[in-house]
Amino acid sequence: MAAHAVSPLTGGLLRRGVPLHHRRRLLAVAATASEVPAPTPALSQPPPSPASLRKGYFPKRGETIELTCEALAFKGKGVCKVAGSTFVLLCDGALPGERLLARVRRLRRGAFGEAAKLKTLEPHHDAVEAPCPLAADCGGCKSQSLAYAAQIGHKHQQVRDLLVNFGRFDPNHLDSAEPDAILKPIVPCDEIFRYRNKMEFSFGTKRWVAKELMKEKEDEEEGMKLETDERDGYALGLHAPGFFDKVLHVQKCFLQSEPADKVLAVVQESWMDPALGLTPYDVHKHVGFLKHLMIRTGRNVTTGTPEVMVNFVTSCYEPDLLMPLVNRITKIPEVVSVINNVNTSVGNTSLGEQEYTLYGKSFITEVLRGLTFQISANSFFQTNTKQADVLYKLIEDSAGLKGDGSEIVLDLFCGTGTIGLTLARRAKHVYGYEVVPEAISDARKNAKFNGISNATFVQGDLNKIGETFGKEFPKPDIIISDPNRPGMHMKLIKWLLEVKAPRIVYVSCNPATCARDLDYLCHGVEEKGLQGYYELKSVIPVDMFPHTPHIECVCLLELR
Ligand SMILES: C[S@@+](CC[C@H](N)C(=O)[O-])C[C@H]1O[C@@H](n2cnc3c(N)ncnc32)[C@H](O)[C@@H]1O
Repeated sequence: MAAHAVSPLTGGLLRRGVPLHHRRRLLAVAATASEVPAPTPALSQPPPSPASLRKGYFPKRGETIELTCEALAFKGKGVCKVAGSTFVLLCDGALPGERLLARVRRLRRGAFGEAAKLKTLEPHHDAVEAPCPLAADCGGCKSQSLAYAAQIGHKHQQVRDLLVNFGRFDPNHLDSAEPDAILKPIVPCDEIFRYRNKMEFSFGTKRWVAKELMKEKEDEEEGMKLETDERDGYALGLHAPGFFDKVLHVQKCFLQSEPADKVLAVVQESWMDPALGLTPYDVHKHVGFLKHLMIRTGRNVTTGTPEVMVNFVTSCYEPDLLMPLVNRITKIPEVVSVINNVNTSVGNTSLGEQEYTLYGKSFITEVLRGLTFQISANSFFQTNTKQADVLYKLIEDSAGLKGDGSEIVLDLFCGTGTIGLTLARRAKHVYGYEVVPEAISDARKNAKFNGISNATFVQGDLNKIGETFGKEFPKPDIIISDPNRPGMHMKLIKWLLEVKAPRIVYVSCNPATCARDLDYLCHGVEEKGLQGYYELKSVIPVDMFPHTPHIECVCLLELR
């Protein structure tokens, strides 16, 4: 596994062994107040300008200080400053415009630090009331109390700043008012709640209790305590941020579909009933039965109505224990499939070693860009179906296939082949590459299911490509590259700069590594003796996950 240089500004995903200038530039970004993303003027007011800047100010670990949050960094941490100082402290839960009291936790290489929020002194601009009562405690929706327009404004600003500071792109070309400006406006989500088609909840023996609810003051720093009665400590919900063993009890989740919420409510009503004899898995003692509850929502392809799959992950196979729950949830008309994944390992994964169908079908279906996909309990599928449709349309538009069936498409990091398959209709042939064997097998099934015969999917590790890579397919006209968060390996960058496809569409879920890879492809890698051959034509940020820090980008590069 590659070692990574950690930086909260970039998500800690910069590989060691890649040119140092990127890590140096990153530190400069963190250290220099003027380079920290400024708040978007339309969405927030400028911070007060202090009479005298405390230039030499350096906080101490453990110190409690008053901060003002000025922007959001990658992963949704607030970029905060001590009044009158230029020193940057990153603080989870701080939102732009907020004045807060925080405790200094960590200091990083003397350049910036991290602080833990203690309390709000003055709320942020663009504050709204979060609909979910758990929003402040649950790590899922960090910015639910920030108006949606402000959320996407900050996301757009983050992409811009990373492209300038990290990708070395000229800000004048990025943001010009002309229609050919490289950085396009961020594409928002139409539906900002109930957009997730999959949620995974955990059963636990240690219920997380918010600090405000505690009578005692013990464990104040960590903001939690354990219940004394064992059953009172049982919980079904989401892991409290930073704790692998504490579960925040969740009655409803505003991100999942209405039918999925109905399933959660029915399970919550029943599972702790002593008569059923169900126990949550204890991650310390490694005893107990129920591990996870996964709820997936798809669509009946004929009727267009929602269909729900419920997957119980248990530590052993005891179907009789689950049947009372199964009988209750299958009264919900949308539930068409109940699965039991059995996972005997002590790890926290929801993947089962064995899978059993307890009710109905073994898969549900969903439609994306006119193609039908079968989704089984553990198969990968884009989590926000509606916005994935928007994203894939942008990818198709950026790819700009002629449509005469003459072009070769290479789909790198293809997953279950969804992007390649949507392009296959207009291409001569699509070649997909992916490391996970199950995803490749799903991609082949998806091709067959949709009657697509001009797509070939190959399993392989794109971090380990050798001399022979590229010999098994014709020279591509269009390359789609959709890596996960660490971005592309230097070996792949090098190969792309050698093969010189006329067009690359780079789809990214991490704007920091995206800016780095775009820099390599356009400006070269001096320390590796590589010349850049591409021109960045457009970057379209897309919000796939409202209230979370995630940002997707579709970038078009053309050979110069
Ligand atoms: C962001 S997902 C993209 C999936 C797909 N393009 C889609 O839209 O559904 C990244 C994919 O890259 C795969 N992947 C990660 N590391 C890889 C590697 N070293 N070589 C090949 N594939 C890899 C992951 O398994 C995952 O399916």
